Amino acid sequence: MKYLVANQKSLMTKEEIVDFIVNYKKVSSAKLKTIIIPSAPFITLFEEPVGLQNISSLSGKAYTGEIDIKQAISLKVEYVLVGHSERRTYSGESESLIEKKLQLLKENNLIAILCIGESLDEYNNSEKETVLLNQISNSVKLMNDTPIIAYEPVWAIGTGLTPTNEEIKKTVIYIKEQAKSLFNKEAIVLYGGSVSPDNINELETIVEVDGYLVGGASNDYNKWNKLVTALEVKHD
Ligand code: PGA
Repeated sequence: MKYLVANQKSLMTKEEIVDFIVNYKKVSSAKLKTIIIPSAPFITLFEEPVGLQNISSLSGKAYTGEIDIKQAISLKVEYVLVGHSERRTYSGESESLIEKKLQLLKENNLIAILCIGESLDEYNNSEKETVLLNQISNSVKLMNDTPIIAYEPVWAIGTGLTPTNEEIKKTVIYIKEQAKSLFNKEAIVLYGGSVSPDNINELETIVEVDGYLVGGASNDYNKWNKLVTALEVKHD
């Protein structure tokens, strides 16, 4: 099964998202599954279930401004992004907060998509594997037996830069091996960071990659539809 996941971030206005909804392609087959994760205010504009970009680690009382897991369940949300680098960076999300969210999702049978990745400095200092190991060493045990992990180098997000295919392949294998040896789990590993119609065919030659987490290009239905078409051709 190949995944194509849209992380639309906070980029679209209501008018833009309505336009997107009218025009975008979705697929749900045994071989390819598209998952849209829009900005939270817009999730009910979609007729089918969509994902959430964030969930509160707290539940059951009044928490102004938060999205409670009970609300997510009542909206038929299935997938939730956890630990996206923009939340780690701009909202100060710590490993312990990420772990609380993963625990809550597991208890409520929602599927987490855990985002991990190294910064440019960490990449340049050859610290990538240490960083990734830190990011999965506690979190993956709180996920189900086939955890979904999105490997997104921070320096590749929104920059147009991507690691080489060889680097992505090595890293994806590393993540899968760690999940197996540490927790006996079969990780589904997505790649994210400047995925676009221009590089999807090249990325598709890496057989170890189980799918993609797409940011910028998922805000443009033309680009999104091209990505869906490129994957459909290979996974129909
Ligand atoms: P990008 O974002 O595709 O714009 O690089 C990916 C992400 O942040 O999930």
